[in-house]
Amino acid sequence: MNIIIIGGSRGIGKAAAKELIRDGHRVLLTGRDETTLINTQKELQAGTLILPLDVTQPDSAEKLLEFTKRENFLAEGLILNAAKFPDQKTARSVIQPEPEELLSILDANLVSHYRLARTFLPQLPQYGRIIIIGSTAGIRSDKGGIYGISKWALRSYAYNLREEAKQYNIGVSLINPGGTFTETRKKEHDEDTSLLETSDLGVLIATQFRLSKQAVIEELSIRPITGDSY
Ligand SMILES: NC(=O)c1ccc[n+]([C@@H]2O[C@H](COP(=O)([O-])OP(=O)(O)OC[C@H]3O[C@@H](n4cnc5c(N)ncnc54)[C@H](OP(=O)(O)O)[C@@H]3O)[C@@H](O)[C@H]2O)c1
Repeated sequence: MNIIIIGGSRGIGKAAAKELIRDGHRVLLTGRDETTLINTQKELQAGTLILPLDVTQPDSAEKLLEFTKRENFLAEGLILNAAKFPDQKTARSVIQPEPEELLSILDANLVSHYRLARTFLPQLPQYGRIIIIGSTAGIRSDKGGIYGISKWALRSYAYNLREEAKQYNIGVSLINPGGTFTETRKKEHDEDTSLLETSDLGVLIATQFRLSKQAVIEELSIRPITGDSY
C-alpha cells in the first residue's frame, strides 16, 4: 500500500515508517525540517518519498495532494501523527498559558489533521485507512494542560470521523500512546523503562495494515507497565 505519514521524520512516525517498509509498503514522509527528512530517507530505503511541509499552513493539505499526484503516489493510508508539545514549564497548567498558546496547539494538533483528512478522504480507495495518533493525555482528565485539551478534542474528532467515513468504507483508528522514549528524550538518558519505545508504536501502527480489510481498531491505548509518568 501507499501510506502517508504526517510527522514521519523522527520519533513515532519514523518508527512506523520502518515497520511499514518491512511489511512491503511504500511510504511518504512529511515534516518541517528538510535535513531531518533527508537523513531519515537515507536511513530507510530507496523509494521512500519525502516532502518538507508545515501542516499548520492553510495550503499544506493541497500541496501534499498535488505532490502525491505528481509522484503518482495514490495514497491508501494516512497516518496523522505530527503534534505540537506545550512549553514544559507550564505543561500541566490551564491558567498560565496565554490563550494564543491554546489556539496554536489546537491548530497543530486538531485543525491540521481535520484539514488533511477532509482533503484526502475523497482520494482514498475503499478500505483505505486513516490512523490518528492521540495520547493518553486525551483520555485521562487531569494534568493534561492545553496539550491534553487538544488531544481530547482530537479523540472526539476521531470518533466522529470514523462514523462519517463508514459510508465510504474507510476505517478510522485512534492510537493513544503514553510517554514514549523519542530521540529528544534519548539525549538525556540511554534507557528509561518508565517510557514506551517508539518501536512499540511502530508495531501497533503497522499491525493495522495486516488486518483483514474490513477490520478496524477503533481505539487503542498503550502505556508503560508503570503507567503515565505524570
Ligand atoms: N513522545 C511521547 O511521549 C508521546 C506521548 C503520547 C502521545 N504522543 C503523540 O505521538 C505523536 C508523535 O510524537 P513524537 O513524540 O514521536 O514526536 P516527535 O519526536 O517530536 O516527532 C514529531 C514529528 O512530527 C513532525 N512535525 C511536528 N510539527 C509539525 C508540523 N507543524 N508540520 C509538519 N510536521 C510536523 C516533526 O518533524 P519537524 O519537527 O521537522 O516538523 C516530526 O517528524 C504526536 O501526535 C504526539 O502527541 C507522543
